[in-house]
Amino acid sequence: MSGDPVLSIRDLVVRFDVPDGTVHAVERVSYDVGAGETVGVVGESGCGKSVTVMAALGLLPCPPGRVVGGEVLLEGQDLLRLSPRELRAVRGKQIAMVFQDPMTSLHPAYTVGDQVAEAVRAHDAGRSGRAAWGRAVELLELVGVPDADARARTYPHQWSGGMRQRAMIAMAISHHPKVLIADEPTTALDVTVQAQVLDLLREVQQETSSAIVLITHDLGVIAEMADRVVVMYAGRVVETGGTTTIFGDARHPYTRGLLACLPRPELEGQPLPAIPGAPPNLVDPPAGCAFHPRCSLRQGRARCVVETPILADVGEGHRAACHFSEELARTPLAAPPETAARR
Ligand SMILES: Nc1ncnc2c1ncn2[C@@H]1O[C@H](COP(=O)(O)OP(=O)(O)O)[C@@H](O)[C@H]1O
Ligand code: SF4
Ligand SMILES: [Mg+2]
Repeated sequence: MSGDPVLSIRDLVVRFDVPDGTVHAVERVSYDVGAGETVGVVGESGCGKSVTVMAALGLLPCPPGRVVGGEVLLEGQDLLRLSPRELRAVRGKQIAMVFQDPMTSLHPAYTVGDQVAEAVRAHDAGRSGRAAWGRAVELLELVGVPDADARARTYPHQWSGGMRQRAMIAMAISHHPKVLIADEPTTALDVTVQAQVLDLLREVQQETSSAIVLITHDLGVIAEMADRVVVMYAGRVVETGGTTTIFGDARHPYTRGLLACLPRPELEGQPLPAIPGAPPNLVDPPAGCAFHPRCSLRQGRARCVVETPILADVGEGHRAACHFSEELARTPLAAPPETAARR
């Protein structure tokens, strides 16, 4: 990243108080994103990717959630210190979000056009209803909705998943946000539509220079889209670096495990490999390195069960949280796929 970050999450700690204890959902997570940059946040389900951004934007259900510490700086201003009202003004205008399932974010009883127009007016009350409608149609055209004026008069259930996601992106970009957070934006879509929505996000970024945080469990999407990668496991960042570095020189066994699960043309037709086991219950995470029960590099070493590894520099702009990461430097990865950074 060049220049100051637009959004900087610093040492964020989030917990949930649940009947059987405390969920350690986010443990001192830090990452930055700069203007025009796409940071991909990846990890299996339940690793804290969504809770990190929900907490950052004041969207956490509290209780049971609680932000225990950290800072979320938007151009230097700590969002965690804003009043709910101030935060609402930031959300939608300066930071916009796109979620996995647009059906749950769109109201079934209003036309899509009305909802996009409402988003336009939300931070621009001076605009007349008519002008907002005009802008809504323009935005829908911009995100590639064919016959936008007529389509805008129809209801969400009349739209396909991909088209609904385009409408969400239209709303998200209606105020030229500095930061766009997309949480699994294409997970619910089939492969062809997924590629179209990712193309659209890329186009939007070229036009607006927004900083994009793209959350996904799919490293294939990261390879396509991200400039830098943040790998999360059990509520922590376990590795971070440039996309080419992560794909070619991953230094955390978890990242290597995820990479090994990527579909490969030569293995077509065979079942996809998966990392054995599952992410831990965050009420009572494993001692030491939370990845140790699943780690192939550990080889019975005691240090892994007593000492939590810190995220340490392993190269320029490359950090990994593993006591034995240097051993991975000597074991090359299989040929990395084409990544965005490489193109
Ligand atoms: N409302 C909630 N109450 C209790 N635990 C929660 C709640 N929301 C999320 N969690 C827990 O926080 C952890 C991180 O969840 P999340 O950020 O949604 O994972 P991801 O987005 O990486 O799939 C998980 O262990 C999840 O069970
Ligand atoms: S610290 Fe130990 S258990 Fe954790 S990833 Fe490294 S080798 Fe594996
Ligand atoms: Mg999630």
